[in-house]
Amino acid sequence: MQSRSLTFLAGFFACGVVVWFTQRCGPSEPAEGRRRKDSSADSSQVRGVLHSVGQAPPHSRIVLLTGAGGFVGYHTAQALHARGDVVIGLDNFNHYYTVKLKRERERLLRKAAQSGPALNVVEGDVCDGELLKLLLREGRVTNVIHLAAQAGVRYSLKNPLAYVEANVKCFVTLLEAVNQVNKSIPIVYASSSSVYGLNTDIPFSETHRVDTQASLYGATKKSNENIAHVYHHLHGLRLTGLRFFTVYGPLGRPDMAYFSFTEAILAGKQITEYRKDDGTELQRDFTYVSDIVGGIIASMDLGASLEVFNLGNTHPEKVSRLISLLERGLGRRANKTLAPISAGDVPITFADASHARSLLGYEPKVSLEEGVSRFLDWYSTYYGVAMGRRHVTSRRMQNHEEVPARRPGGGAFRSERLLRQRAGSQHEGGRKHRQRAAMERLHPQLL
Ligand SMILES: NC(=O)c1ccc[n+]([C@@H]2O[C@H](COP(=O)([O-])OP(=O)(O)OC[C@H]3O[C@@H](n4cnc5c(N)ncnc54)[C@H](O)[C@@H]3O)[C@@H](O)[C@H]2O)c1
Repeated sequence: MQSRSLTFLAGFFACGVVVWFTQRCGPSEPAEGRRRKDSSADSSQVRGVLHSVGQAPPHSRIVLLTGAGGFVGYHTAQALHARGDVVIGLDNFNHYYTVKLKRERERLLRKAAQSGPALNVVEGDVCDGELLKLLLREGRVTNVIHLAAQAGVRYSLKNPLAYVEANVKCFVTLLEAVNQVNKSIPIVYASSSSVYGLNTDIPFSETHRVDTQASLYGATKKSNENIAHVYHHLHGLRLTGLRFFTVYGPLGRPDMAYFSFTEAILAGKQITEYRKDDGTELQRDFTYVSDIVGGIIASMDLGASLEVFNLGNTHPEKVSRLISLLERGLGRRANKTLAPISAGDVPITFADASHARSLLGYEPKVSLEEGVSRFLDWYSTYYGVAMGRRHVTSRRMQNHEEVPARRPGGGAFRSERLLRQRAGSQHEGGRKHRQRAAMERLHPQLL
């Protein structure tokens, strides 16, 4: 009996210690502590952003831009700011790929915001409906551009629920918020060429039936288009979906082939080029980011009731050509292995952009050759890597001019002078300093 009471007391004491310890030593919440319990965002940051937007002149265009820390979002924010729009960015800075790059984009946006209209990025989640309503209402938002999503075809085989959460649940949360605050705010949202899936009818047209997606990613993007139809039909929301085709460029996504191939070639690692079972090469309609941004902004300006547009380069290229351009630019041969096309992937993407051309005046301008050159230019300065290539971006690009899509004589060669400057700078100052200086020097040329 006595020993039973002792055991009970000992157990009681042990539980007390565990409870006390858990309370004292539970997960520390430095950032969370500053957040409202029901919000994904830091309330003082939100107040600061709303205050800064409040200074905008009465008739300003105020754009809520989700995914502003992402690749396309960053370039879109820069372009909107450059033309005088106020931008309220929103991003949860998730870890799908290195957050360092997202923070670098945020740093560049903060720098751009030192002059011109307000440009801020709130760290928060699109699935946070209360935060969205607060930003829409108090921020006097006039337009929404929704680019936040779980991107990537292959990852959707590994983590399907991330796609349902970010691409479906958050999208509906956003539409509900707009519906409750002000249903006349036009919304432009990112769809994808992945909605075409197993479609073999090329070039891909918005008039084609698209119900054979090959990945959950593609299916969530198609569901966005269906959901957009429902919210337009039921509530009169104005929604434009943009089917982007393989977007690439400076500050791009490390999970995409052009980026990971570059890393692998520089590291002497093997890269895998996928082919169809009969050996046919895969083709992609690689589209340079500034062309996509032009289409996004033109769609926002149009403010259609309900639309879907293809935004592609309208010129598919073999993946082997991308690899050759990278090899030429990097001055190194790729260690290449061939493998059969992986699950979820499709053999070709090819945009018919005539609808965007006629309603948006969309005209892709940057060839793959020029775009890869610009990407490598950024890559070499950002990562401080000397590349053994001969050519530097054309003089026209240095003068901030766009280069026509397909130049008859091929790409302009990079000047030896720039290359020498870059090689020299390898030995001066810290790498971080070089990266920053280079980014700031290069940035105006990117768009
Ligand atoms: N890059 C392409 O080739 C391509 C092609 C077709 C479609 N798209 C679509 O374009 C959009 C932009 O793509 P990207 O290449 O810039 O991708 P990205 O991953 O660089 O950008 C998406 C951003 O959204 C943020 N985000 C994700 N879920 C969020 C949430 N719940 N709340 C707040 N922020 C969230 C991420 O942190 C990321 O910064 C995406 O919708 C993508 O599906 C891109």
